[in-house]
Amino acid sequence: MSVRGHVKRITVPEIMARKGREPIVCLTSYHAHTARLIDPYVDLLLVGDSLGMVMYGMETTLGVTLDMMIAHGAAVVRGAEKALIVVDLPFGTYEESPSQAFHNAARTLKETGCQAVKLEGGVRMAETVKYLTERGIPVMGHIGLTPQNVNVMGGYKTQGREQQQWPELEADAQALAEAGAFAIVLEGMAAELADRISGQIGVPTIGIGASAGCDGQILVTEDMLGLSPTVPKFVKEFATLGAQIAGAAEAYANDVRSRKFPEEQHTYAMKKPVNSDES
Ligand code: KIV
Repeated sequence: MSVRGHVKRITVPEIMARKGREPIVCLTSYHAHTARLIDPYVDLLLVGDSLGMVMYGMETTLGVTLDMMIAHGAAVVRGAEKALIVVDLPFGTYEESPSQAFHNAARTLKETGCQAVKLEGGVRMAETVKYLTERGIPVMGHIGLTPQNVNVMGGYKTQGREQQQWPELEADAQALAEAGAFAIVLEGMAAELADRISGQIGVPTIGIGASAGCDGQILVTEDMLGLSPTVPKFVKEFATLGAQIAGAAEAYANDVRSRKFPEEQHTYAMKKPVNSDES
């Protein structure tokens, strides 16, 4: 039982123990209402910095702040009771030094109640991952297409399509696993390389635009619900909520304009006056 007296929350060791046994189901979440709806079906909810684009209409994740992540992280923790909650450390809040990363990751855990943080980068972030895990902060790694690196990459480019890129990406995964990352997101990566890395390291890999051979999969929830204006090739839309929302708004507008809404059942009648004959 959890502190709230309901379901027991999935732990970091339980996620790690799934490797080679059972696929790990992950989705992103940014607010309490959706978190509550999807929580029963997933193992891990990521409060991703993709919220910059999805929730705030930004062009990249670079403008996302720690305060934004903390506000949305706390909302998701309030909404979900079963899934492990991981919150992204946004650009500029962890790269400078392990102590900067610890300060901001500890604040994230304290103020949201989440169980772990995610950060982008391989070999270059290994020292930081070790520093955090040794001090009680579970870390999820993220390599391959790393959106916070968009300006260096010159766009969102699938990684590892040339075999000569493989040793560097394999070294990134190995370094994160050795540093203590409890799982590693492989984003936008050639399927053959994602399969190879998944077989090489002892911690779960979570694929997005990677391969079916990863130990788990993650998608941006709004993408898979059919809410995003454009979706990349690797997204499967499991619903068409965008069309449903537009349809509902149109029906509402028609009803208001034709005075079909509200009907009597949607309104409140005045209270009956108290009988004054008695006095
Ligand atoms: O920010 C995010 O949503 C992510 C996932 C796409 C892995 O990092």
